[in-house]
Parts: sequence; C-alpha cells; structure tokens
Amino acid sequence: PEAPSSNATDAAEDQGEVQGRVLYNGSQLWKTFDITKEKISVLAELRDEKDISMWGGNTTSIDILVKADSVDKVKERLTENNIQFEVVIDDLQRAIDEENPTDLELDDRRGHRLTWQAYHRLPDIHGYLDYLAQTYPQLCTVQTIGQSVQGKAIKLLRISNGNPGNKAVWVDGGIHAREWISPATVTFIINQFVSNFENEPAAVRNIDWYITPVLNPDGYEYSHTTDRLWRKNRGRGGIGGTCAGVDLNRNFGYKWGGRGASRNPCTETYGGSGPFSEPETSAVRNFIQSNSGANWKAYVSFHSYGQYILYPWGYDRVVPPDYKDLENVARRIASAIQRAGGPHYTIGPAANTLYPASGGSDDWAKGMAKFKYSYTIELRDNGRYGFVLPAAYIQPTGTEALEAIRVVAEAASAA
Ligand code: ARG
Ligand code: ZN
Repeated sequence: PEAPSSNATDAAEDQGEVQGRVLYNGSQLWKTFDITKEKISVLAELRDEKDISMWGGNTTSIDILVKADSVDKVKERLTENNIQFEVVIDDLQRAIDEENPTDLELDDRRGHRLTWQAYHRLPDIHGYLDYLAQTYPQLCTVQTIGQSVQGKAIKLLRISNGNPGNKAVWVDGGIHAREWISPATVTFIINQFVSNFENEPAAVRNIDWYITPVLNPDGYEYSHTTDRLWRKNRGRGGIGGTCAGVDLNRNFGYKWGGRGASRNPCTETYGGSGPFSEPETSAVRNFIQSNSGANWKAYVSFHSYGQYILYPWGYDRVVPPDYKDLENVARRIASAIQRAGGPHYTIGPAANTLYPASGGSDDWAKGMAKFKYSYTIELRDNGRYGFVLPAAYIQPTGTEALEAIRVVAEAASAA
C-alpha cells in the first residue's frame, strides 16, 4: 500500500532520467519508527516539498523513499523531530537492477513464455492465458473485458468445470502498476489450478473462477519501460491533462471521493474525475454486472506490500454488519498461510488496519455488487524490499497465496 495521499508527481519530471527512463540512483528506502500524528505531519511536509514519497507501513512505522538529493536534508529533519529511522535500501536503482533476472531461457517449447522465476512483460502474461484457453478448452476460456486508456486488452481467464451449481469467485491483480508480485502471484495460482486441476480440493474444482491478472495493463507496462515505481493507470489527469494517471483503487463507485482519495491529478491517490471514470475500473463493473447469472460470492484483489488480509470497509473506520464472517475467513486464510510455513499476515478491516481510503475495489464489491466476501490481500514483503521484491520471492509468495485462495473457495462454496 502507500500512506494517505502521497504526493510524488510524474516522477519523470523531477528524478534523474536517462533515455526516457526514470532512474533512482542514490535514492534510498528508509523505515521510520514510533510514528505519531505529529511525526506524520513532518513526513507529510517532506513529501509536499518533494524530498520523499511514502511507500507503505502502518500507523506506527512508515517506509519512505528518500530522493538522492534530499538524503541530508531528510536526515536532519527527522533527527530534529526525534523520528527514529533505519536505512533499508541504500541505493534503490541497484535494487531495481537486481530485482529481475534477465538471463532466463524463454524458449517457446511449452507454447508460452511465462515462468515464475522472473517478472514478465504483459505479452508473456496474456500469451499464457491464450495458451491455456487453447490447451484446455474444456476448462479455460479467455475473454477481453475491456480496453485500457491506451487500448491494451484487459484479459480475463475463466476456469470452470461447467457444473451448473457452481458459485463464482472474482480474482484480480495488477490494479497498481508497480506491485509486480501481484500479477505474478495471480498467474501462479492459475498455473497450479489448471495444471493440477484434478488434485485440487472439491471446493476449488466446483467454483467458476474469473481471473484478471493485470487490471492496469498500461501502468504495468509503463512500470517496466519507464518508471519502475509508477502506481496509477495512464489516463490523463484533470482538465488539460497536467499530470498523468488515476489511482484505480480510488476510482470504484462506492463512497467515491471520500477520505484517503485525492482530487489533485498530480498525486498518487488521485481518484479520477468521477466514479468509474476509467475504462479499467468500468470494465470490472460492466463484466460483473452483466454476468449477474454467475453466483458471485467472493472478490479477491491482490496487491503489495505489507502482508495484510484486509476486508471492508476501506472508506472509513467502520465495518459491515456481517464483519464477523469476513474476520473469521480472514483468520482462516492467515492460519492456512502459517501452517504452510508462510509468514505472518495481519488481518483486519482496511481503514482501521492501514488507513481510510475510499473508492477501492473491495468496498465496491461488498457495498454495490453484494459479494458476501471481499478481500484485498497485500502480499509480501513487510518492507525489506517493498515494491522491488526480488523475483526469487514469486514462488514462496505464490504458494501462500494459493493456500489463501483455497480457503476463499471453501468459504464461497459454503456461502
Ligand atoms: N494498499 C491499498 C490501497 O491503498 C489498500 C486498499 C484497501 N482497501 C480500501 N478500500 N481502502 O489502495
Ligand atoms: Zn496496491
């Protein structure tokens, strides 16, 4: 996640840039401790002065990206204000360069190029979905549910054994461009389901799965080609288009425009000109609404980072009437992950656990589309690498997400 209304503008404008690529040489990732309301305002000031941007954390500890030229200034300001910190990554560009192996053999022997040893570009991911539909036509179908701002396909894979009584579960990834572990994890789940379908538990086999690994294809590609830390889509912001990008997880139409969403197109949490102003979010709404024949029960959106299992509400520090049910399933998810040897995931209602943020897909799924279960799962890690999680973590993260989604399948079956 990222802390409330961070203010990093078009990074290309004010960071080092070579051949159209934003570079982060000398920029650092710091973890700050014992954060209080007063200390947050010190950080907010530094953010507004464009010395830092907020990456993640929670109410007591916040991860900040410190720009190369601001390291001394920020150090001074934090010391003056008694804010403890620790340098976690001393050169962000080096971490970015080391994150993803580039020497993989990607021959087409299996009919597709996707692996779970590296983060892949969009055509590899979409090519994999097409390959599955061709190879397993009785189980898998691919559909383009809409087009991004720049006209890229938003592809959805449906996995179904065709049983008429199946409940339906929605899974998406890649709402936020820079959270690369999310699409990688979603395709990891797809791969396990499809290649081992007969061995999956009955609860998994008897679900109609609707899975979109990359909901924000423009942003995802932009984070590969131009700015590794891009979060939003690539829509024009505001009238005249001063800054690019809408935060798609502030653009859904339930309590849109409330707390934790910004009206300023130049911020990271800009909610767009109105609810569902963006083609990426309206594709989700249109697909789910037009498939009202599906027996929708659960909505799961994968993000990173922080290791959280969040349920509504996100717009404010309140919970839905049946929150106990959501809490129970969240607890079962977290236990399943730990039982499988995974790390601790914190569970709770989104606004209370992280911060209020309105216009999220999870709130819309629960509040408008009436999914019984709605979760945002923030995958690894908890701040060692943050968004720049080395590709070696795809397998362990995917393995625990698979545990999580199996629990969701059980809950959806019983709902
Ligand atoms: N990191 C996510 C975000 O900032 C958390 C979303 C939780 N859900 C919510 N409706 N606020 O978008
Ligand atoms: Zn996210």
